[in-house]
Amino acid sequence: MEDLTSLSLEEAEKLHKALSKEIEQHNAAYYQKDDPEISDAEYDALMIRLKKLEEAHPDLITQESPTQKVGAAPSRGFGKVQHKMPMLSLDNAFSSDDLREFERRVRRFLGLKPDEDVSFFAEPKIDGLSASLRYENGRFVQGATRGDGREGEDITDNLKTIADIPDELSSESELVPDVFEVRGEVYMPISDFQTLNETQAEKGAKVFANPRNAAAGSLRQLDVKITASRNLRFFAYAWGDASEIPGLTQSEVLARFRDWGFSVNSLSNVCSNMEEAIDAYRKIEELRASLDYDIDGVVFKVNRLDWQERLGFVSRSPRWAIAHKFPAEQATTILREIEIQVGRTGALTPVARLEPVTVGGVVVSNATLHNEDEIQRKDIREGDTVVIQRAGDVIPQIVEVVLDKRPEESKPYEFPTSCPVCGSHAVREKNPTSGKDDAVRRCTGGLVCSAQAVERLKHFVSRNAFDIDGLGAKQIELFYNKDLVKTPVDIFRLEEKDKNSLTRIRNFEGFGEKAVTNLFNAINDRRQIELDRFVYALGIRHVGQGNARLLAKNYLSIDALLETFGPDNPDIGKAYVELLEIDGIGAAVADAVKEFFSEQHNRDLLKDLTSEVDVMAFEAPDDDSPVSGKTVVFTGSLELMTRSEAKAKAENLGAKVSGSVSAKTDYVVAGAKAGSKLAKAESLGVQVLSEQEWLDLISGG
Ligand code: IVH
Repeated sequence: MEDLTSLSLEEAEKLHKALSKEIEQHNAAYYQKDDPEISDAEYDALMIRLKKLEEAHPDLITQESPTQKVGAAPSRGFGKVQHKMPMLSLDNAFSSDDLREFERRVRRFLGLKPDEDVSFFAEPKIDGLSASLRYENGRFVQGATRGDGREGEDITDNLKTIADIPDELSSESELVPDVFEVRGEVYMPISDFQTLNETQAEKGAKVFANPRNAAAGSLRQLDVKITASRNLRFFAYAWGDASEIPGLTQSEVLARFRDWGFSVNSLSNVCSNMEEAIDAYRKIEELRASLDYDIDGVVFKVNRLDWQERLGFVSRSPRWAIAHKFPAEQATTILREIEIQVGRTGALTPVARLEPVTVGGVVVSNATLHNEDEIQRKDIREGDTVVIQRAGDVIPQIVEVVLDKRPEESKPYEFPTSCPVCGSHAVREKNPTSGKDDAVRRCTGGLVCSAQAVERLKHFVSRNAFDIDGLGAKQIELFYNKDLVKTPVDIFRLEEKDKNSLTRIRNFEGFGEKAVTNLFNAINDRRQIELDRFVYALGIRHVGQGNARLLAKNYLSIDALLETFGPDNPDIGKAYVELLEIDGIGAAVADAVKEFFSEQHNRDLLKDLTSEVDVMAFEAPDDDSPVSGKTVVFTGSLELMTRSEAKAKAENLGAKVSGSVSAKTDYVVAGAKAGSKLAKAESLGVQVLSEQEWLDLISGG
């Protein structure tokens, strides 16, 4: 153990500052971005080091230290749950022979006669996260993550949002045990994962690498509403602490789980001996590609529970079960061409066009190349023979180049420096803070670039923007190519244009009289739109739904935005600072917003658009609320509500929630152990409320 007592005060201070800063950064990554950069164990180690340092130098303890702050405690937001029965892991078999060896071990251990068969229950190994659900008298009372197997996190409220998890065990067939812990896997269907990523990308929010990560990120959310908004599912396959076991075999217990209201995987089945079990493995492997959830192998369990009991455990895995994982799905093929796609914001994205090849039952003809640097790092060239891999990730990736097969005339790939669609310069901007080149090269053509124009139009009509029935990506492309819709405003002039056109839309393939009437009606229905939707639809860089809402809330009308950032505002510098001061708006967003509203072609477009569309001024969610327009600061540890709950509620009532106390603060709501913010409020004469007083205030009591 490092000796922290021998540090000089100066050294200790320095270390304290560095550690605190690091922990704060990890807190932000964990809580705000839901994207932890280190493991919980590494985080705990940092925290312990800081605590030891403070023990050796108590003077360093301040209210601001991560050791003193709520939410920064080692529990990191969720309560801990001790598993009454540990949550174990599984031993692995790597071949059919390993499975046969497993059977021999089982037989030896049990001392079975040669003519006595062992039945195995074969179940798909679901690629998600395991959870344990405790039922007392048939009611769901607590749910926990696996954690380290002995201690997990209390995620009861999050698990309650999952439809496959019954609140109460239905007990038509039998009485339900007094205590029963159902265990299984939380996962996200692949189709939901894809839709989630699309909306995340549209919002400029984090895109998940695979359904498993998406499930994890969705489940461990302090804000339960986020969990509830994601389609998570649950398969039950095991149990922990139980006052009674409802069956004599694994298959019987799972049948009971089904009666109780759980989803049990339908591909699971009883195999009378190991050869049948190996067949079951092959069948499940064949089905793998057609499933809407990721599985990464097959788990075999001795079916008889009395035998499971006798076999028991070795260290952290049961002797009665084994997992056989599928081999990584790889294939070799030829990279025909590197194609550059241009997105809405002008990003040039390389895509590998492949000689079609089957990987794990799926025909693959494209692979992602990520970006310019990735191509260079792996020296990927057109004509190369490449190894591709389809992991849980849905888009296949290139693992490596088979250099022996590289054609002699092959040349390194040169990433274009001009846009393949419009020919404008394509540049890599410097990141203002890091000074490094951005990973993405972008077309500078803006509106002259038809690729950007089409992608922007698609965004303009997308679900969270104008959301026009019957006007999706396909129709946009068609109308664009027929010169009917080139800019957003053309959408609202489509009917008129169609009247004067020789080739009428009703004669296009896939349309008809009725479809066209419906389309025009749908467009007309959207001639009135909320400001936040409208701002989101504009497709300003970095402005997803959240930022669009912030802008709507703070500027209230489209005219105000145009005025604030227009050429006639002499105080544009001040306007920019005010924009930056909005809680949640960072420099990149502020730059993009200012640029968008000050550019003349955008201003022209907005003028045109607002002549067709009525953009409704933003209305504070609840004007009558007693805290509407007030600024409130929550501090200390809240006991009657979670902090995110408090914040959301306050914002819904039209209050602004701030992180720091100033003379402009209307209320400071102080929970237990409130520190410097409370002191500051008192010194400034800001009204301080207890949690209960705040709740009384907002309920109008
Ligand atoms: S049985 C003692 N069955 O695999 C029994 N586990 O490597 C332990 N898993 O942590 C679990 N599908 O997250 C079991 N059908 C299945 C499973 C399964 C997925 C996961 C589970 C566990 C890990 C063990």
